[in-house]
Amino acid sequence: MYDRFKRKINYLRISVTDRCNLRCEYCMPAEGIKMLPHDDILSFDEIAEVTRVAVSMGVDKVRITGGEPLVRKGIVNLVKMLSDIEGIKDLAMTTNGMLLTKFAQPLANAGLHRVNISLDTLNPETYQKITRLGKLKDALSGIAAAKKAGLCPVKLNCVVKKSADEPDAKQVKAFAEEQGLQVRFIPQMNLETGEFGIVDGGDGGNCKICNRLRLTSNGNIMPCLFSDLVYNVRELGAKEAILKALGNKPRSGSVNSMSHFNNIGG
Ligand code: 5AD
Ligand code: SF4
Repeated sequence: MYDRFKRKINYLRISVTDRCNLRCEYCMPAEGIKMLPHDDILSFDEIAEVTRVAVSMGVDKVRITGGEPLVRKGIVNLVKMLSDIEGIKDLAMTTNGMLLTKFAQPLANAGLHRVNISLDTLNPETYQKITRLGKLKDALSGIAAAKKAGLCPVKLNCVVKKSADEPDAKQVKAFAEEQGLQVRFIPQMNLETGEFGIVDGGDGGNCKICNRLRLTSNGNIMPCLFSDLVYNVRELGAKEAILKALGNKPRSGSVNSMSHFNNIGG
């Protein structure tokens, strides 16, 4: 499917929960934020149905995000349901890695192709400061488990203040090289003020080549991370919600005053 600006849209990012086991400084306040009501959260059947419709319309790349997707109960079953959908060439997940030691192999067995894991620093104190609740060693063992399970290419997501020249980012880069991993440097963004930048090593943040739609955990199809436009699949049905999002996808992002990173999955 194509949008008004002739961009081919083939990538669906699915946020399966707004909950997270960490509280990264750039994503959530320390006390957390108000969670979505349970009844508003799509069931696995609903998520799979929206995905099937999206795939029938031309999506062939799917990413599962959060919050932290691995805190959603039964997530391995959802991965299995999605991997059974014919036509998905790339099935990936973005995770903070805290629970990957336990989940990497079951996820691979369920048909997940690969993971992106957040890693902003290799300094244990800095890691704890940024994530407030996380331990660096859990992220590192999660990364090792992902490699072992063959969730490859394992990519690291490294949020930077300004550029990949910062000391923490340089260390992450060296670690990635030594481990044979890819790394993407994501400039710290602010949805409310519309500050966003191009991801170094990835396609995010580059409006000209944007190929994405998003599905939030409460069933909103969002045409753009930096826009308040939403089309709810329960209200409109999946096909109509997707068509409306496609038809109204902005040429480029501006501001998003309603969402937070934890409910749209970055
Ligand atoms: N700016 C940039 N990236 C962010 N993420 C979360 N909050 C922000 C922000 N303010 C990204 C992190 C994480 C992914 C889930 O979302 O890279 O890896
Ligand atoms: Fe959780 Fe990811 Fe947000 Fe950190 S950035 S608090 S790991 S959702």
